[in-house]
Amino acid sequence: MSDIHSATSDITSTPAWVALGRHAQELQAEGVNMADLFEADSDRAGRCTTAVGDLIIDWSRHLVTETTVKLLLALAAEAGVAQRIIDMMSGHPVNTTEKRAVLHTALRSDPSAAVTVDGSNVMPAIAAEHQRMAAFVDALHASQRLGATGQSIRAVVNIGIGGSQLGPAMAHEALAGFRHNAVECRFVSNVDPASLADGLAGLEAESTLFVVVSKGFSTAETLANARSAQAWTAAGLGDADITQATRHHFVAVTANRNKAQAFGIDPANIFTTWDWVGGRFSMGSAAGLTLMAAIGPDNFKEMLEGMALIDAHVSTNPQTPVPMFLGLLSVWYRNFWGCQTRAVVPYSHRLRLFGVWLQQIIMESNGKRVRSDGSPLGCDSAEIVWGGVGTDSQHSFHQLLHQGTTVVPADFVVMASCDTDVGSVDAQARHKALVANCFAQAAALAFGTSDTAADPHRQLPGNRPSTVIMAPRLTPSVLGQLVSLYEHLIVVQGAIWGINSFDQFGVELGKTLADSIVDDLLDDTGTQPAEHDPSTANLISHYHLLRDS
Ligand code: F6P
Repeated sequence: MSDIHSATSDITSTPAWVALGRHAQELQAEGVNMADLFEADSDRAGRCTTAVGDLIIDWSRHLVTETTVKLLLALAAEAGVAQRIIDMMSGHPVNTTEKRAVLHTALRSDPSAAVTVDGSNVMPAIAAEHQRMAAFVDALHASQRLGATGQSIRAVVNIGIGGSQLGPAMAHEALAGFRHNAVECRFVSNVDPASLADGLAGLEAESTLFVVVSKGFSTAETLANARSAQAWTAAGLGDADITQATRHHFVAVTANRNKAQAFGIDPANIFTTWDWVGGRFSMGSAAGLTLMAAIGPDNFKEMLEGMALIDAHVSTNPQTPVPMFLGLLSVWYRNFWGCQTRAVVPYSHRLRLFGVWLQQIIMESNGKRVRSDGSPLGCDSAEIVWGGVGTDSQHSFHQLLHQGTTVVPADFVVMASCDTDVGSVDAQARHKALVANCFAQAAALAFGTSDTAADPHRQLPGNRPSTVIMAPRLTPSVLGQLVSLYEHLIVVQGAIWGINSFDQFGVELGKTLADSIVDDLLDDTGTQPAEHDPSTANLISHYHLLRDS
């Protein structure tokens, strides 16, 4: 294992970083222009389009030259990115602050190849858990899984937040065309009571099953929603005993079995995830149980195979895998062009939650200000990820992408074929319009308007970078490939910056403060709270006045 995880050298003082800084300044000073880059290299489009698995990735519309690529690869070599990837995939404790391995890739790798954590092979446990999940879902689909009154389960409600919801919920939308019609799946995450109320609308307790997903089983929002769901179930079963209601209508997915059992969940209904699977990387684990209930074990397996395909590409080309280029490009814009954000715009209605999922895995992983050894980061880290779905986003925020004062690198994701189940007469034609819009946006961003004499209000400067990722159609495998591609991109970023991408201590303070504030909100006397900062105390006073008005 390399010593990169306890790195003491600042990447910004390495020769590759310094050379990249100089190179960026030169390009900026000479006004590098995408149109000129294409003009100078008739094969640029072909050369800068890479295939991996089913994905075609066009990165030709970036402000990079051959020198840029060489220097970025030198930076990756200097930062030990390839070694970091190898260490991660082979079970070394790369999550140094929590002293844990990071093995989401093992969830989808060949079960016959051992991966060891603390001297024991984790692959048999993964295979066994996937088999338990499949048996559970098969029983559900065959109406063999019954509620307390003997009714078949018809609805599955996932209760979980963050990584225990975003990935599976995103995939549930993305794979709408692959859903099994035996059960309807819903996702409830927010502690806002409206989230549970809307999630339960129209459901009957007798035929509803809750999947409480929480790695630590201590997340306040999840436990609050799960308790309310328990009460709803008991009431809906005719004031049934809560223990019985929970036994028949609740399953848990957790790395903390004791807490799930203490909550009342039957040990036979507890699915395991592990410390070495980060929540935001966990959709291939039992955290994807609700997703598997929706799409069935075979489609879930195909999604895992898609992820594995990219993993295999990465582990067999650790020096130059495609996610390496994408990660390096993000570093290029973030650190050498001052870009603060990345727009993610899938031209796919069913990928409309993709950017929301990506926000957590990039921003929670790499939104850090110190390096693995605790020393301050000498440069910026993760970009702000935002976006929407094309074509809707064109009528919303693309104006700023084209003519705003800020350069926002964009990722466009598009499928070459229409989803199989949207067979209206003109579906194919409309899908072509969708693809055309995607290509048009990338071109307009890159090349802008050519008439320099035109009214300045109507001029588009161009020279705005974007990547286009295209796949044949949105299948479980393609979705898995996209997920894995971005997961690896994050590891590349984190390795360059020398940070631990796998903890998230920044979210803890807010949780503690909320716990202390809620006590004062629950205090109906509204007495002036004493233990808060003046601003919070003021808000609490206003809260009591408004609530009582
Ligand atoms: O908000 C922090 C976080 O720990 C995320 O990283 C995680 O995905 C989410 O909360 C939910 O955690 P858990 O699965 O333990 O309920």
